[in-house]
Amino acid sequence: MNILMVGDVVGAPGRLAFATVAGRMKQAGAADFVIVNAENAAGGRGLTPALAEALLAAGADVITLGDHAWDQKDLIKYLDLEPRVLRPANLAPACPGRGWITVDTPQGRVTVLSVQGRTFMPPSDCPFRATDEILKRGAELGRIIVAEMHGEATSEKIAYGRYLDGRVSVVAGSHTHVQTADETILPKGTAYLTDLGMTGPKDSVLGRDLAAVLKKFLTGMPQAFEIAVNDVRCEGLLVSVDAQTGRASRVRRVQEKLEP
Ligand SMILES: [Fe+2]
Ligand SMILES: [Fe+2]
Repeated sequence: MNILMVGDVVGAPGRLAFATVAGRMKQAGAADFVIVNAENAAGGRGLTPALAEALLAAGADVITLGDHAWDQKDLIKYLDLEPRVLRPANLAPACPGRGWITVDTPQGRVTVLSVQGRTFMPPSDCPFRATDEILKRGAELGRIIVAEMHGEATSEKIAYGRYLDGRVSVVAGSHTHVQTADETILPKGTAYLTDLGMTGPKDSVLGRDLAAVLKKFLTGMPQAFEIAVNDVRCEGLLVSVDAQTGRASRVRRVQEKLEP
């Protein structure tokens, strides 16, 4: 089974790039299952129910979020209605929604789980222990398990990958909007990438218009950050997983430029 994970979708350009690339890869049979981080899909801030529906219609099987999960208030109720949209699993238990899902597919059962890191991130429960709790469910879960850590620190994401090596099929990071080049298959068979990157305008600062971000850094004054427009790309990771063993056999970074 080929699993495509897509890094943080930013605004309308990111949504278009995701729909184009994921749609093409699904149609061509290059991707069987698609997971997309959409925490910045609504103008850079969170996700709305309508945009979630559009991403699901465009080819997403599961949508993940992160520290921007609560930016759009309409999403809060929606999270209890649409189990395919995940917020990090290690938030306070009283938060709406959930952090993992198991999906039955023609190629087998797939479990996707999302956690948020704790280094340079908003407070949360331990992502390592939260993952252990989910993995304890054993037979309820798929043979194929994909874990995403939404986090800032490379060390925390690498440690998380090594902690889960051999216990899940894929571990990838999100949140920094800058793709790392360390894709690998870890010693016990788990595919790993520290950060998926960003799906949106690369001629920017993390998807936002350069001038406004520079003004913020130069003056320290708050600015409205518009979404940038140029050099739109879709970034992520494509992993081939053996549906019988759950082990990864091939891993390839994805970075596709949207032709204007
Ligand atoms: Fe993000
Ligand atoms: Fe984030």
